[in-house]
Amino acid sequence: MDRLVIKGKAKLEGKIPVSGAKNAALPIMAATILTESECILHGIPDLTDIFVMAEVLQLLGVKVHRVGDSLMINAQGMRNNEVSEKLMRKMRASNLVMGALLGRSGRFRVSYPGGCAIGSRPMDLHLKGFRELGVKIDEKFGYIEGEAPKLRGAEIHLDFPSVGATENLMMAACLAEGTTMIRNAAKEPEIVDLQNFLNTLGARIIGAGLDVIRIDGVRKLGGGEHRIIPDRIEAGTHMVAAAITQGDVVVTNVVTEHVEPVVAKLREAGVTITEEAGGIRVKGRRPRAVDVKTLPFPGFPTDMQPQMMALMTIAEGTGLFTETIFENRFKHVNELRRMGANIKVEGHVAVVKGINHLCGALVEATDLRAGAALVIAGLAAENTTIVEGVEHIDRGYERLEEKYRAVGADITRVSVS
Ligand code: UD1
Repeated sequence: MDRLVIKGKAKLEGKIPVSGAKNAALPIMAATILTESECILHGIPDLTDIFVMAEVLQLLGVKVHRVGDSLMINAQGMRNNEVSEKLMRKMRASNLVMGALLGRSGRFRVSYPGGCAIGSRPMDLHLKGFRELGVKIDEKFGYIEGEAPKLRGAEIHLDFPSVGATENLMMAACLAEGTTMIRNAAKEPEIVDLQNFLNTLGARIIGAGLDVIRIDGVRKLGGGEHRIIPDRIEAGTHMVAAAITQGDVVVTNVVTEHVEPVVAKLREAGVTITEEAGGIRVKGRRPRAVDVKTLPFPGFPTDMQPQMMALMTIAEGTGLFTETIFENRFKHVNELRRMGANIKVEGHVAVVKGINHLCGALVEATDLRAGAALVIAGLAAENTTIVEGVEHIDRGYERLEEKYRAVGADITRVSVS
């Protein structure tokens, strides 16, 4: 088990490059199942969640070969359509193979993902959509089984714009007979990236990034090459790290429109943000308190809520955080309190009263973004912060401590046996 040891109060200064987006890479890796031809993906981050998806694909009989940040994937020899409980427990996003398995072989069997650290996260929207496409769903012995001798295009109206359900349905529908319309679809940039990848393979999809996605089914998909978009949540995390240390950082490899909701909120808090050739420059000062409400894209991302809360712990004034996407996403609050933060939680709302400075403490990352928030808090805190549970951070941030060390942070990884 690793820990991060952070001696706080160093201003971050310099450039921080952003890696490819984990949440775009995972569904796109799953989508390679849809074709028997080779797919080449570039910009794949080096993360444990990516290893797990590669493991899932390999167990299905898919060949996965990594060279640097590229993956060569060939699903020609795919022979299995079951994802075990062990892999589903390792990563909930393993469920993203359901839609692709349906498209490729008309059936899947995956272990029910169950709850996770940030809430119960049901699968009803995925399954309802599959049923509309003609899939017979059976839920037994902790597994979900889907079977469709023939997928047929359908009108699907999502009750909530779920990212995973939209992705699974796009994948299943692109090899269905006829046209599928997904209404109230998720509009996240990762959905657009999936559409672009599938269209590269020969799919006929339009509308990703808008409320309605239209998929005209095709008989077969071919191979293709694609570069994954930069990770907007990683970019946002670095912007907050720059702001909280009152540093001066240029975050590079970032798509401005993707981070717009975070940039707008940081500017409201008084952080100076400018676009520069090749990146976004962030100059911090003590922030003003702002209210934050998480919403589907283009609202403020739930995956940035813990990091933004870390920043608000040292703001002037009191800010209100309303979490509308996940039911249990305030696990970082207790840990931030250990560092002296003044936060009260009432249901879905957290009231954060700014204090002058945080103090280093021993804290535990309970999930990926909570972990990022604690690292950021540690960068700004007095004395030493020790973050445990680093395996959660490794799921979604590539070499986080190296990137921060390169811009002046005093942060080291220590292995504890
Ligand atoms: C994805 C992201 C995750 C991000 C989330 C919201 C990946 C791999 N993960 O997760 O980092 O935090 O989007 O932006 O891309 N829901 C249902 N029924 C369903 C599906 C979802 O009730 O069938 C609920 C969930 O419990 C949750 C909300 O909808 O409360 C959002 O979930 P969803 O958009 O599906 O998130 P994920 O795709 O799991």
